[in-house]
Amino acid sequence: MIAIVQEIIDETPDTKTFRLAFEDKEYAKSFEWEPGQFVEVTVFGAGEAPIGFASDPNERSFFELTVVERGKVTRAMHALKKGEKVGIRGPFGNCWPLEDMKGKDVLIVSGGCGLAPLRPAILQILANRKEYGNFLLLYGARTPADRNYKYDLDAWAKRDDMQVLETVDVGDENWKGNVGVVTTLFDKMKVDGENTVALTCGPPIMIKFVTLELLKMGFSEDRIVTSQERYMKCGVGKCGHCCINHVYLCTEGPVFTYAQMKELFELKL
Ligand SMILES: Cc1cc2nc3c(=O)[nH]c(=O)nc-3n(C[C@H](O)[C@H](O)[C@H](O)COP(=O)(O)OP(=O)(O)OC[C@H]3O[C@@H](n4cnc5c(N)ncnc54)[C@H](O)[C@@H]3O)c2cc1C
Ligand code: FES
Repeated sequence: MIAIVQEIIDETPDTKTFRLAFEDKEYAKSFEWEPGQFVEVTVFGAGEAPIGFASDPNERSFFELTVVERGKVTRAMHALKKGEKVGIRGPFGNCWPLEDMKGKDVLIVSGGCGLAPLRPAILQILANRKEYGNFLLLYGARTPADRNYKYDLDAWAKRDDMQVLETVDVGDENWKGNVGVVTTLFDKMKVDGENTVALTCGPPIMIKFVTLELLKMGFSEDRIVTSQERYMKCGVGKCGHCCINHVYLCTEGPVFTYAQMKELFELKL
């Protein structure tokens, strides 16, 4: 389906958020998706890429995709102007287990653009805040300029129904917060490892060290949940591009527990 670029937000030097609305208003009304799912975006003349939803799933008049400029397709997407059109297939994939998490404390640990697929989950939890216990967000960026959704982070930090802890790898003259990798924030938080579900997304090295810390804190392997942004093509289980040990990450993922990942990737931390 064709979607039109309504707004473009510069998030960081290499990342933009695109607000998109379907040209066909009837189709838009029936378009539903869950936090954690993704679409295949066609930038005409450049190609197609899988991109996770990054906006409020309850907002039906538009959806947002946050895109890091990496190669041919994402570079062409960054060159788009307001009013231009893209092709959208989806929604595809599974979602964060937000229903199963009700009644539990929630810990979100994200790094860099890994906050993008978690933003819909955060907005969904805040929309149903009473259904969850304590809510803590840890976020790490390379520098203050590399913080995605600065406007959200600043607003969330002011709320009294969630706690936000941030860090950057390298600060600047205006940065008054923590400096260090995201796991350095673990000393500053109080979490009940037995009653908390952790959702995490970021660079693989971050996920590795976050998982190690969470396991030490008593999190069971099925309460550590991550999104795998492994390269995909068709998104619908046909091309085999994303297949590992007979599992199609595009249809059975991208969201997996650590217990599933361990089996799938024969992962040893
Ligand atoms: C389920 C899913 C959700 C995704 N969500 C997002 C999102 O919300 N925002 C976003 O910016 N990207 C997201 N991605 C990654 C995105 O699909 C790729 O970055 C994109 O396909 C790159 O296409 P390209 O043509 O611009 O780059 P290419 O020309 O294909 O690659 C350029 C360079 O980027 C590297 N690269 C390609 N894909 C990835 C990747 N997944 N991770 C790290 N490096 C990569 C390549 O190795 C190469 O060095 C997601 C991927 C998946 C599978
Ligand atoms: S991306 Fe084609 S099978 Fe998964």
